[in-house]
Amino acid sequence: MFVKATMDRDAVEEALNTAFFKYKGTYFEADYTSRKIIDDIEHMEIRDDDVFLVTYPKSGSVWSQQILSLIFNEGHRNGTEQIDNIDRVPWVEYNINNIDFKSRPSPRLFSAHLPYYLMPRDLKYRMGKILYVCRNPKDVLVSFYYFSQCNPKLKCSIDWETFFEIFISGRVHGGSWFDHVRGWYTHKEDFNILFMTYEEMKKDLRSAVKKICKFVGVNLDEKMIDTVVEKATFKKMKQDPVANYSFLPDDVLDKSKGVFLRKGIVGDWKNIMTVAQSEMIDQMYKEKMGDLPINFLWDLGEESAS
Ligand code: A3P
Repeated sequence: MFVKATMDRDAVEEALNTAFFKYKGTYFEADYTSRKIIDDIEHMEIRDDDVFLVTYPKSGSVWSQQILSLIFNEGHRNGTEQIDNIDRVPWVEYNINNIDFKSRPSPRLFSAHLPYYLMPRDLKYRMGKILYVCRNPKDVLVSFYYFSQCNPKLKCSIDWETFFEIFISGRVHGGSWFDHVRGWYTHKEDFNILFMTYEEMKKDLRSAVKKICKFVGVNLDEKMIDTVVEKATFKKMKQDPVANYSFLPDDVLDKSKGVFLRKGIVGDWKNIMTVAQSEMIDQMYKEKMGDLPINFLWDLGEESAS
């Protein structure tokens, strides 16, 4: 049942070692953060109205950034302010635009791919709010694979079989999907947190938006909710320059090789994963996550997103 990697493993290891570093049980993008930055996050001062979006990579982060931006910023909703989502909801561990978090007006929005134990300490005293969005690991893996093809920091292009092995061993940016989701889920009582899945957002975006509004305490009328939903659809976001991450320079995302908003569907794993690979993930899921009451949808019968 084990899938054999076909690539030169030394070349892959070298590429991974250059692009990522391991720290405190997970992997980080080497060019955009440091051990000191990660350590300092623990002491970041939190305000009660801060909202953190936390995701494992490829789980709908930019989508959720768009939703939060639209909920909180009228200028974003009515098109009067063209501020990129990465600046509206900046990454705490990858602050690539050097935003001064301390001087930001409230309510502040942040994003993170961090495991629960590396988050600002104050959040663990239930200050601030966390929206945690997770996605079924098969679609995450596939999305991650295509994304790795346009990551210029990975100096070699990694084939599917090899990437599959790398992912299930947790040797990717963000570490093990299983550790990330399990860690957050089993520690959710320590935080003020709303757990959502990518799949439930896909199934009923309007209900998801309303749920998020309620959690973050923002009252939007039905018309405003309509706007949020409309602007957060895959089709709209794909064309929206503040939301589609096309603003990233080519040395961060090589747009000749792929895009951030690729397909946006549930069940794309069926187009690439072998039966043996799928069964391997099922088995791992059963062993590592089987006792948790998280319900992922594995397929919605979609061909393309709307
Ligand atoms: P695919 O590669 O499967 O298309 P992240 O932002 O965490 O890196 O996740 C990226 C994934 O979320 C990509 O998945 C992307 O297409 C998908 N995505 C982004 N915006 C979306 C939207 N509005 N609706 C559905 N999926 C979206």
